[in-house]
Amino acid sequence: MTAQIRTVDLDRFATFLPGLGRLLVDAVNTGASLGFWMPMSQADAILYWREVLQGLVREDLVLIVAEDGGEVVGSVQLLLSDRQNGHHRAEVRKLIVDTSRRGHGLGRALLAAAHVEAAFRGRRLLILDTRTGDAGERLYESMGYTRAGEIPGFTIEPDGARHGTTIFYHWLP
Ligand SMILES: CC(C)(COP(=O)(O)OP(=O)(O)OC[C@H]1O[C@@H](n2cnc3c(N)ncnc32)[C@H](O)[C@@H]1OP(=O)(O)O)[C@@H](O)C(=O)NCCC(=O)NCCS
Repeated sequence: MTAQIRTVDLDRFATFLPGLGRLLVDAVNTGASLGFWMPMSQADAILYWREVLQGLVREDLVLIVAEDGGEVVGSVQLLLSDRQNGHHRAEVRKLIVDTSRRGHGLGRALLAAAHVEAAFRGRRLLILDTRTGDAGERLYESMGYTRAGEIPGFTIEPDGARHGTTIFYHWLP
């Protein structure tokens, strides 16, 4: 079955919540840099997604999921700037594809869906950051993003190891 990509509104959020939790746990516990240390529990993940729910309530966040047979297999978010001088921009956040589904174009399809949603809202400047050296860098560059720069030592692991982050931007046509 092919994954369906859709935005999640407030009414349907609860339906997706357990699957979103599993998606985040899967990514974090296999080493993705998404702001959390492993091991992550489902309960911790649910707490995170409840913060995302607040963004949906405030209407400054767009949540997009890929689902297949009732399972959440991917997700991405757009954080819409609420600044007076920033109504043309949004931040792409937490692009995640389930480990069992990677390498088949789903990440690219989710990002393309985020672009459609951003353009629909007049948000033509997109910004994001991703751990330097991760697969995301190639994906973003291949989708037209420009590398703005790198910040060394942006994240820190429990053992003290630090990793850089790369900041990208993209103007939608
Ligand atoms: C980044 C991520 C979303 C990509 O999802 P995906 O479905 O595997 O990506 P796609 O199959 O659409 O691949 C798109 C492009 O990404 C790049 N890419 C994907 N996997 C890659 C890998 N393992 N190594 C290097 N580049 C990779 C390639 O450029 C690829 O294009 P190509 O197939 O034409 O070469 C996925 O690896 C993921 O969920 N990672 C963990 C979370 C994360 O780090 N998110 C990004 C930071 S917010």
